Amino acid sequence: MRLCLFAWVWGMGCLFGAEPPLAKLGKKIFLDTTLSNPQGQGCISCHSPKAAFSDARRVSPGAMAGRVGRRNAPSLMYAALIPPQRLEDTYDENGELEYIVEGGLFLDGRAHDLLDQVRHPFFDENEMNIANGTELAAKLRKRGYGLEFKGLDDKDTNERAFQALVAFLREPVFRPFNARIDDYWAGNKDALSLSERRGLDVFQTTGGCATCHLTGAASWLEPLLSDSGFDNIGAPAIGDIDPGLGAITGKAGELGQFKVPTLRNVALTAPYLHNGSIATLQEVMEFYNKRDLEPERWGVSNYPETVNHEDMGDLGLTDQEVADLVDLMDAFTDRNLLKMKEGDLFPKVPLGVPMTEERKAFFMSKRRHDLTAPRRPRE
Ligand code: HEC
Ligand code: HEC
Repeated sequence: MRLCLFAWVWGMGCLFGAEPPLAKLGKKIFLDTTLSNPQGQGCISCHSPKAAFSDARRVSPGAMAGRVGRRNAPSLMYAALIPPQRLEDTYDENGELEYIVEGGLFLDGRAHDLLDQVRHPFFDENEMNIANGTELAAKLRKRGYGLEFKGLDDKDTNERAFQALVAFLREPVFRPFNARIDDYWAGNKDALSLSERRGLDVFQTTGGCATCHLTGAASWLEPLLSDSGFDNIGAPAIGDIDPGLGAITGKAGELGQFKVPTLRNVALTAPYLHNGSIATLQEVMEFYNKRDLEPERWGVSNYPETVNHEDMGDLGLTDQEVADLVDLMDAFTDRNLLKMKEGDLFPKVPLGVPMTEERKAFFMSKRRHDLTAPRRPRE
């Protein structure tokens, strides 16, 4: 904090003023495009700061020419705040107790937590395409980053790199909570326009959005606009068939389900949905409102039998209400991202965002569950 303040006083802004050493290493690795095979791709290539660390392309090309992923790269803002995978008890439509999956990283929740996630992009053949741990360790050592890996064997070298990426993604720059909605929730009612306030009302009442995109505190002090659950909203099919959560758990009822994303900075992260099938927020809102009334407009989805028809698809909202919801999305954009200038590599960190150390308790990893085991309620 104090270092941040000095930087600010000097008129430099708090640009990673007080970044701890491990996070600093993580940042270097995040920016490094020489590790991939062939060289030329790093985390930054698909998680662009200008797009709130998401990819504006529908799907991202891999390091190897001709290869391409199947999902739209999500924003990394607030990604470190997504809780680790867990099983939550709830009641099914017959009133029976059942367990559902919540949390976990990736859009299908297949990584238990962030530390589990960050290793994947290096070895994914459609991403950085590194053959194995030995090759990654050799590349990291060659880069050296100021002797960071001195005296470590392959496994520990890679582990240190993964831990560094986690430390970096937990940094205040990824969780500023300085959107206009935060000012509004802090009591400044003028922070939202009239239309945005109407949109928020729809969001929390007739639109039913806040059932999943929570507007209250859950796994974090400030609202994340996600319950980190999974659902099938019936995304229009495009590209390969994608079974989502169902492929991880082996449960038919969970086929086609994807993680509820945070809506923070959503105005900067087009295109939308796990497959990037919808181009604009206006269309997303029209989809929620009239999906089931306009089947020819939206086409088929991959797993029609698990699509959620209860909470969406025929909301009966007026055009004005749809427009108000679209407006509301702008209120979710962090101002430090909007303030980025040409040539800025990263957004500046606003004053007063707590250091990771101060929020340590929130970053604890939880017990692992066997997601494929039968999920019966406790006796
Ligand atoms: C080739 C493009 C590409 C590269 C390179 C890449 N990513 Fe990603 N990233 C994606 C895509 C696509 C997804 C979603 C994949 C999925 O859900 O299966 C993703 C998902 C993630 C997530 C999960 C977010 C969430 O909401 O669950 C994190 C965290 C992440 N990436 C961090 C990184 C880091 C760190 C690196 C560098 C080591 C990296 N990515 C490199 C494309 C990329
Ligand atoms: C039953 C839970 C649920 C409800 C209710 C819900 N959503 Fe979603 N929302 C999701 C899921 C799940 C996704 C991701 C779907 C996918 O990737 O296929 C999503 C995706 C989105 C996206 C795209 C985000 C991105 O980064 O691609 C927007 C925007 C959005 N929702 C807004 C809303 C609004 C506005 C409402 C109310 C009209 C709403 N949602 C109601 C679960 C829900």
